[in-house]
Amino acid sequence: MSEISEPGVNISTHPIVKDKLTKLRSVGTEPRKFRELVREISLLLACEATKNLNTKTVSVTTPVGNTEGFTLGGSVGLVPILRAGLGMVEGVWEMMPDAVVWHIGLRRNEQTLEPVQYYANKPIEPDVQACLLMDPMLATGGSASAACKLLKSWGVSHIIYIGIIAAPEGIHRLKKDHPEVPIYLAGLDSHLNDQGYIVPGLGDAGDRQFGTA
Ligand code: PRP
Ligand code: URA
Repeated sequence: MSEISEPGVNISTHPIVKDKLTKLRSVGTEPRKFRELVREISLLLACEATKNLNTKTVSVTTPVGNTEGFTLGGSVGLVPILRAGLGMVEGVWEMMPDAVVWHIGLRRNEQTLEPVQYYANKPIEPDVQACLLMDPMLATGGSASAACKLLKSWGVSHIIYIGIIAAPEGIHRLKKDHPEVPIYLAGLDSHLNDQGYIVPGLGDAGDRQFGTA
C-alpha cells in the first residue's frame, strides 16, 4: 500500500470499507459477490463524498407537530464511466432516487493506455449542483481526466470523483489536470505494471463484474 498527501484526496479508513475491499480484491470472489461488494463500497464512499452537498430548509409536519427540516438544494448527477462504473451507480441511486444518470463510455487503448470515447449521453439541461463521477479504477488517470474534461465542456462546474482503488500515477494525473476535483477512494495501491494494471489492485474491474474475464 502507498500513502499520499495531496489535498482533496480522501482514502477511506473505515473498517467496513477495508473489510469489503479485501474481499473485493480476492481472486476467489465470483462476479455476483464482486458486484455486491462494488455496490456496497460505492454507497459507503458516496456518503462521505456527498457530505458537503447543498441543502435547503423546508418545513415538515410530523404526527405530533411542525418542525424545520432539509432537502437537497439541487439535483445531483451520477456519472458512471462504462463499463466498470456501472456497478457503482445502483446503490448510490437508491440513496438519491431523484439523481439523474449520465453515461460516459471510455475504453483504454491496450497499447497506448489512452482513453477512447465511444459513448456520451450529453444531458439537455446539465443543471445539477454536483456530479459524482464513478469508476472503480484510477490507473493512469487518463479516463477520469477525459471524463472530467467532457463534463466541464457540458457546463458542469462541481465534480466529485468516487473510485475504489487508485495508483499514485492516477491521482497525480487527475490532480494535475483537474485540481479542484475531490477524490474519494477505498484504497491506494503501490504502482502500475507494464500493462497499466494497478498492483496489487483487483485485476480488470469490468471483466470481474460482468463475468467476461
Ligand atoms: C478501466 C477502468 C477505467 C480505466 C482506468 O476501464 O474501469 O475506466 O480502465 O484506467 P486509466 O486510469 O488508465 O484510464 P477499461 O478501459 O478496462 O474498460 P471497461 O470498464 O469497459 O472494462
Ligand atoms: N482497469 C482495470 O480494470 N484494472 C486496472 O488495474 C487498471 C485499469
